[in-house]
Amino acid sequence: MKLDRDRARRAFAAYAANYNAGDAKVALKISHTYRVAALCERIARSLPLEEPEVDLAWLCGLLHDIGRFEQLRRYGTFNDAESIDHAACSAEVLFGEGHIRDYLDEPDEDAVLETAIRWHSAYRIPEGLSARTQRFCHILRDADKIDILRVNVEVPLEDIYNVSTEALRRSAVTPAVLESFYARHCVLRTLKRTPADNVVGHASLVYELVYPESLRIAAEQGWLWKLLDFHTENAETAAVFAAMRQSMRDWLDATLQDSPKGVQ
Ligand SMILES: [Fe+2]
Repeated sequence: MKLDRDRARRAFAAYAANYNAGDAKVALKISHTYRVAALCERIARSLPLEEPEVDLAWLCGLLHDIGRFEQLRRYGTFNDAESIDHAACSAEVLFGEGHIRDYLDEPDEDAVLETAIRWHSAYRIPEGLSARTQRFCHILRDADKIDILRVNVEVPLEDIYNVSTEALRRSAVTPAVLESFYARHCVLRTLKRTPADNVVGHASLVYELVYPESLRIAAEQGWLWKLLDFHTENAETAAVFAAMRQSMRDWLDATLQDSPKGVQ
């Protein structure tokens, strides 16, 4: 695959220009896109992958959320449960409507791109994918999760979860959600009942990161620590978050110590 990144950037900017960048939600997805592309590149280089493979990882990041713009225009929300599967919508825009050819002339990597994009936000990727396809799925999923930590710190939680500041400050963590956190895996959507549960759910995405470089970035960038520094007026919730923060630090230190520089 021969990728002209400037052409790809121009094609993305031209597509996004059809939507209102003055809308904070549109602007959020544009900045998320460029950050995820850069994170995909960094993770790919750490493995290490050859240059054309690094380009392919970067392109997965650039294209993964292209369906978000149509989702927002048609339904006014980024909540998939209330609208459509935005990853499937990205795949439809690119491979159904044919926009992929705005970015890339040759179709030889279409199958890998489509699979990585279609499954980027699913709970798990499908079984039976080739090792190479799995790798691009995991790179994209890791990069997306890392940037979700930032979004959850930079955008007021009241806006993300549609709750009042008062409800947020009073909120408790549901025991089953806390149990998932200490089992070191991400929290199932159906377990979450309170605004604080959503915060725990996002922090626990770190447990699903596949590559050591992804863990290093998450630890380094600091959004994770800010997210777990949850402002609350509920004394019990404050104690629960302080313990989770310490536990996450200990887990990350131990995991990173054990992992070699480049793996998989
Ligand atoms: Fe996404």
